[in-house]
Amino acid sequence: MVVLGVETSCDETGLAILEFDKAGYATIKGEVLASQVTLHEKYGGVVPELASREHMRSLPVLCEELFAQTGLGLKDIDGIGVTCGPGLKGCLLMGITFAQGLALTRKIPVFPVNHIEGHILSGELHEKALKPPYVTLVVSGGHTEIVLVEGLGNYTCLCRTRDDAAGEAFDKSANLLELQYPGGARLAARADSSGPSKRFTVPRVSREMEDFSFSGLKTAVSLLIKRNRDEIFSSPEVFAEVCWAIQDGIVDPLVKKTSREVLSRKLPLVVCGGVSANSALRKRLSEKCSPVFFPPLKHCVDNGAMIGYVAGRYLTEGVLPPKIDIFSRWPVETLRDFYWANHG
Ligand code: KG4
Ligand code: ZN
Repeated sequence: MVVLGVETSCDETGLAILEFDKAGYATIKGEVLASQVTLHEKYGGVVPELASREHMRSLPVLCEELFAQTGLGLKDIDGIGVTCGPGLKGCLLMGITFAQGLALTRKIPVFPVNHIEGHILSGELHEKALKPPYVTLVVSGGHTEIVLVEGLGNYTCLCRTRDDAAGEAFDKSANLLELQYPGGARLAARADSSGPSKRFTVPRVSREMEDFSFSGLKTAVSLLIKRNRDEIFSSPEVFAEVCWAIQDGIVDPLVKKTSREVLSRKLPLVVCGGVSANSALRKRLSEKCSPVFFPPLKHCVDNGAMIGYVAGRYLTEGVLPPKIDIFSRWPVETLRDFYWANHG
């Protein structure tokens, strides 16, 4: 079975073609991605209307490119997986309309895919030996959650953020430090050039609670910068030290809560989402948990392959595509009913 994956939930347009064998193992035949970072950087964040328009422009161009790259065409596609949430409604609509348009001409199924499930299963896409149960940490610009995976579509959220996502905390702090958007990776690079800071700390708000919480960190960082402004912006060493303190303030609760869940269950760990590129997070989780899997960086960030993979897994299991809808919020624990409730 050959499946096309379409991802447009935020500011990346991603398409991929995957081929599945009967056991549900997938080979990626080709993939394309267009990032909108340069479009949004002057606004310091994603502008939803511009993002939707850009998806509409990019989708047909990328699809042609993908067909040329793989030597495959619409005639070879047996099903399409498209992200239906969570994400920006206007952006999701672009991907869905495109997928439905393609499917109409060939009467093939369009399978609604949950973006977070895409991130979660990117571990299984790359590690053939990885089988549930395992724990996933999904950390990106929009999501921060620890999920227990007990089977396809069988997810329990163990911990999620009450407010900002970890990537958002990185980006907002970077913005306060006047680093270019999206500043997460830039802030991390400065942090890595510093030794541990004794002078600066940011509060660990989530220490006292079950969930994560990162919105207070932004206020703390803003105050810290206000109080030490001259020193921070005149000394690269002091600047790096502040970056270290911020990174530690974000990474520390991620490592503590994730390792607690993993160690108490004695299960493997998969770390995915854009923030999983962070080297301090990788190092500390690898020291505490074993085995731990990080999908390749291109599949840690948003991409079409993970969406096609989810659709292909359900289609090879014989699950009929539920009705297409747009879900700006769509918790992964609701997928058990969504996919399996009517499955014989
Ligand atoms: O998964 P992703 O590409 O997009 C979504 O948000 O869905 O994640 C992007 C996020 C941004 O917040 C970016 O600043 C952050 O991942 N990020 C990093 C690093 N690389 C990317 N944060 C910390 N350290 C990094 N090295
Ligand atoms: Zn994502």
